[in-house]
Amino acid sequence: MERTIDGELLNIPQHVAIIMDGNGRWARQHHRPRTFGHKKGAAIVEQICDDAWELGIKYLTLYAFSTENWKRPADEVTTLMGLFHQYLVSYLDRMMKQNIRIRIIGDRRGLSQQILDDIERDERESAGNTGLQFNIALNYGSRDEMIRAMQKMAADGHTKPEEITPELFSSYLDTAGMPDPDLLIRTSGEQRISNYLLWQIAYSELYFTPVLWPDFNRDVLLDAIRAYSKRDRRFGGV
Ligand code: FPP
Repeated sequence: MERTIDGELLNIPQHVAIIMDGNGRWARQHHRPRTFGHKKGAAIVEQICDDAWELGIKYLTLYAFSTENWKRPADEVTTLMGLFHQYLVSYLDRMMKQNIRIRIIGDRRGLSQQILDDIERDERESAGNTGLQFNIALNYGSRDEMIRAMQKMAADGHTKPEEITPELFSSYLDTAGMPDPDLLIRTSGEQRISNYLLWQIAYSELYFTPVLWPDFNRDVLLDAIRAYSKRDRRFGGV
């Protein structure tokens, strides 16, 4: 979709996925414990949702906790899970006011009953909201998602080779029914995908910024969109 933002004609991606990285380094820069960085990182999410919607983005998918993040020190995992719980409880009202629909992707097994209840409530309450379609990847890993999808397909009796199509497979992924990301952003200067949406980003444009996640804001998002606007997406064509 083309839109004029701050006097500039830009091509706005419909779906933006973000790998929120650099909370630990941000905390270190501020001489504080890593968990302080996660708290600040969680605190900016609300504003980023508003900015994304205002810029014309329809789907926003944030990588909050990977299937590999359980390897972190126990107190850090506990802080992160506490933050997710707090977030899912306290932002529901706001999501309802802002017409935001929230969905959680990832493996629900392994999450606490408290977080499962939060997810069930927030997804149910916001299911009819037609504004920003906001996804949080929680206990998410792309390989894990694909294996779970294949297991469900087999369990549903889709075992004949000729039945297996990209469309059928996509419909078993956690992102079923959503368009693929047009733009994937990773903060903090790392240039890796880290097992995020591997199937879905087949044709996504990639954007890496040195900005640490707690410093991410509308200007950085707009820079990413500017870069995206200049890209010539051919999807394998000429
Ligand atoms: C990466 O920074 C960040 C994470 C593993 C957690 C992301 C979580 C949040 C931003 C907070 C909660 C979000 C929501 C949606 C409530 P890092 O710790 O790997 O940073 P480092 O590489 O500098 O150590």
